[in-house]
Amino acid sequence: MKILLTGGAGYIGSHTAVALVAAGFDPIVLDNFANSHPVVMERLATITGRHIALERGDVLDTPWLEDVLRRHQPVGVVHFAGDKAVGESVALPLKYFHNNIGGAVSLLRAMETVHTENPATAPTLVFSSSATVYGDPATVPITENFPRSHTNPYGHSKLVIEDMLSALRTASPAWRVGVLRYFNPVGAHPSGLIGEDPAGIPNNLMPFVAQVAVGQREHLNVYGDDYPTPDGTGVRDYIHVQDLAAGHVAAIKTLLRQGESFTVNLGTGRGHSVLDVVKAFEAASGKPVPYRVAPRRAGDVAQCWADPALALRLLGWQALHTLDDMCADAWRWQSANPNGYRS
Ligand code: NAD
Ligand code: UD1
Repeated sequence: MKILLTGGAGYIGSHTAVALVAAGFDPIVLDNFANSHPVVMERLATITGRHIALERGDVLDTPWLEDVLRRHQPVGVVHFAGDKAVGESVALPLKYFHNNIGGAVSLLRAMETVHTENPATAPTLVFSSSATVYGDPATVPITENFPRSHTNPYGHSKLVIEDMLSALRTASPAWRVGVLRYFNPVGAHPSGLIGEDPAGIPNNLMPFVAQVAVGQREHLNVYGDDYPTPDGTGVRDYIHVQDLAAGHVAAIKTLLRQGESFTVNLGTGRGHSVLDVVKAFEAASGKPVPYRVAPRRAGDVAQCWADPALALRLLGWQALHTLDDMCADAWRWQSANPNGYRS
């Protein structure tokens, strides 16, 4: 049972590849390595004890995608490939509309073409969406029927792709689509062989904290301590990437078994503040994480966490790892690979 993973060499895709092998699937990684490193493939082989097929190329290349689909005939596709830096999307909106929306259109057209040639198989897709589609939620926890909005081109691209998938399902009922709205993925595989490898200065909290702990950065800037939260710092639903990977396996299995499309949150249902993360990381690493309070970051919300009940009901999935697990695994990866895959 082959599953094609676009962007499969990236942070979430690589962990999902490992989880799929463990569940008896045969993942195929498709990536152009725009934001990942080919050495990931060797690490995946070490962890799984198996060679994982690689298709090196660009999702924007529709004829090539068709060729990949015809050769492998995967039973499902997980679409991770895309750009994800919020700040960059504000500076370079066309890059995000081209690669994210254009990439999704290219993939969907290729899948539709190959399905038309062989109508016996239902096109089956899992899409990486984000809690960013909830904008600034009026209340927490967030359920899937909350209103959607966007505050930057990255978030806008996710919203447009969700809407495209919905229109496609209306037009072509054969499509089986699982939209997964991730909350804040952190942590790494417990082997320490694969993990998050941000290019340049990390934008997200956990990789920045990890780089402070390992001594690469002097201190963390805590963006605001005057939010209406218990300690005044921003609260988020951090989810272990291993739990997220298991969520993709559950989503694929559900689509293949039931054929019903769905949109679900993948989160833990628990919120942690910036200072909770700092304390947990200090405990996991045994290293100090000095910080300074800085002004709020533009576009940040005070608190955001999921109601994950629908994922449990529909997929039989729930997050199992704690914040301490996330920090311990992030630290193992960071300390063994201080310069990421370039170490
Ligand atoms: P990542 O950058 O590590 O992985 C994305 C992969 O896609 C990279 O390996 C990159 O080289 C590849 N890629 C990009 N454009 C491509 C193209 N045109 N053709 C082929 N390959 C291409 O990111 P990630 O954290 O693993 O995120 C995966 C998906 O999940 C993204 O769609 C992202 O928007 C979404 N998401 C991520 C987070 C998060 O915090 N990491 C949160 C919510 C949603
Ligand atoms: C960010 C993105 C969001 C994306 C999500 C997951 C923005 C505005 N939003 O959200 O679209 O879906 O990542 O990839 O970038 N913090 C600090 N110091 C830092 C970094 C972060 O205090 O150096 C704080 C933030 O203010 C926030 C919390 O840590 O309160 C988490 O930040 P981050 O990891 O960037 O995630 P999100 O803000 O949830």
